[in-house]
Amino acid sequence: MNARDWRDRRRGWSASPVAEGYDQRRFASVLGRRKHRNDVARLLDTLAHHLPSPGRGPGGLILDLPCGTGRLGAELMAAGYRVVGADLAPVMLSQAAASAASPMHLLCAEAEHLPLPAAAVDVVISLRFLIHIQDPAVRREILAEMARVTRHLVIGQIRDPHSLKHRGRSLRRALGCAAQLREPSPTHTQLEAELRDAGLELLSRVPISRVFSDKSLFVARPLSS
Ligand SMILES: C[S@@+](CC[C@H](N)C(=O)[O-])C[C@H]1O[C@@H](n2cnc3c(N)ncnc32)[C@H](O)[C@@H]1O
Repeated sequence: MNARDWRDRRRGWSASPVAEGYDQRRFASVLGRRKHRNDVARLLDTLAHHLPSPGRGPGGLILDLPCGTGRLGAELMAAGYRVVGADLAPVMLSQAAASAASPMHLLCAEAEHLPLPAAAVDVVISLRFLIHIQDPAVRREILAEMARVTRHLVIGQIRDPHSLKHRGRSLRRALGCAAQLREPSPTHTQLEAELRDAGLELLSRVPISRVFSDKSLFVARPLSS
């Protein structure tokens, strides 16, 4: 996706029909529900494993960036966390406000400039976002903002170069078949370097599902912590 596609995609998310149908299109089918359940299970395991105890479990404060329709925030609140959701699209935020069983704090904000003080939250989670950003300078700016506002962790999502899906696409491309290689799919070393540049230390990479997904989570902590 080039810079123009990214701008179009950003505008698309701010359009009302896209926001209203977002969960229905992605997470209502059997496969979609499985994807959502996998995302939530990996996130909760990762939080339980990596978040130091003062921020873990009930009371821990999570920034869900961007929160989209709030599908993750609702599950995290059900697990006892406090959640602030931030997104640049007011229509996505309206969906989030309408769908959460208990009220989630919501912020209309750009990930590049968060209206939050340093170390304001215990953890920033960010799913289905960085994978869309091709420009390393924009990714760096956003990661540095995440590093600034978190006390303990940033849990983000990137494409996994070791996943079956990614390997299948690479093979089809090598054989001359049409196959879109979804970038960025950074290697461990590339990811480590990119995070370090933004003030973060890579702790771990957690595949969502090596068979069914080409995405993995990364877990990082601020270098200053
Ligand atoms: C694919 S959705 C993912 C939402 C959510 N994280 C999830 O997993 O369901 C991407 C979201 O990013 C938001 N977005 C795009 N660019 C953004 C930016 N620069 N700052 C804040 N939100 C942004 C869009 O409005 C959209 O809601």
